[in-house]
Amino acid sequence: MEVFTSIQSLRNFLHQQRTANKTIGLIPTMGALHDGHISLLNSSVVQNDISVYGIFVNPVQFTNQEDLVKYPRTLEADCALLEKAGCSAVFAPAVLEMYPAPPVLTMNFGTLETVMEGASRPGHFNGVGIVVARLFNLVQPDRAYFGQKDLQQVAVIRQLISDLAFPLELVVCPTIRETNGLAMSSRNQRLNDVEKASAALIYKIMTIAKNQLSDGLEVNEVKRSAQEQFAALPEFTLDYFEVVNINTLRPILKPESPGSMAICVAAFLGPVRLIDNIIF
Ligand code: PAF
Repeated sequence: MEVFTSIQSLRNFLHQQRTANKTIGLIPTMGALHDGHISLLNSSVVQNDISVYGIFVNPVQFTNQEDLVKYPRTLEADCALLEKAGCSAVFAPAVLEMYPAPPVLTMNFGTLETVMEGASRPGHFNGVGIVVARLFNLVQPDRAYFGQKDLQQVAVIRQLISDLAFPLELVVCPTIRETNGLAMSSRNQRLNDVEKASAALIYKIMTIAKNQLSDGLEVNEVKRSAQEQFAALPEFTLDYFEVVNINTLRPILKPESPGSMAICVAAFLGPVRLIDNIIF
């Protein structure tokens, strides 16, 4: 496995691969890898000749300085995991390599970014759009892999690919969970064991809500019930609990076709902000 920190060396490597007619999968991440990240690589390894793993903690998408500073950075351990899992190349640039000058362009994803994560973290999806577009241009992959856990990010990236006509396939991989239901996330590294057990309640409350909706309960009643459950847990501060259409991200008032709806949650457990969703 090759590890590149410079854009030029990555480009040289990719030029050789393309000349040899190899297909390229790109997995953009911010590192601190867990099994969810490795599942993205596993899909890419099956579907492409070459898998390029991006590891870059992108300052432009952070709206909270403390979160940026505390974001776990574990490059050596990440590379060991990736090599074992059959990764071809890692691209782990420093901030100045990725952004020799601060980007001036801003991206606006319209109604996709005025709700949920976008409403709570204004400017976040501008940063995601900029770095992902940059990575698509640098790597020019045949396929790019993202996790369903970041459902809103997936909707934004689908729009980016469509609006800028990136010639690639977007592959969305399912959320990987701990046995207690907690969605795997790099931010879980900031939780102790007791907090990790509490964090699993997010999935439990979403599952109750999903069952209530399947039983025909009104969306507003389900939301109220979930909000009350969170309010009864002093360790949590709920940011939002929404039931949305997975493509438009518009709130749903009445059930829509199966597979097109999602329950989305963001909650603070102490200072750590966790997000999760279930598509149903
Ligand atoms: O999902 C993430 O880890 C990041 O938002 C991404 C897509 C790598 C862009 O920095």
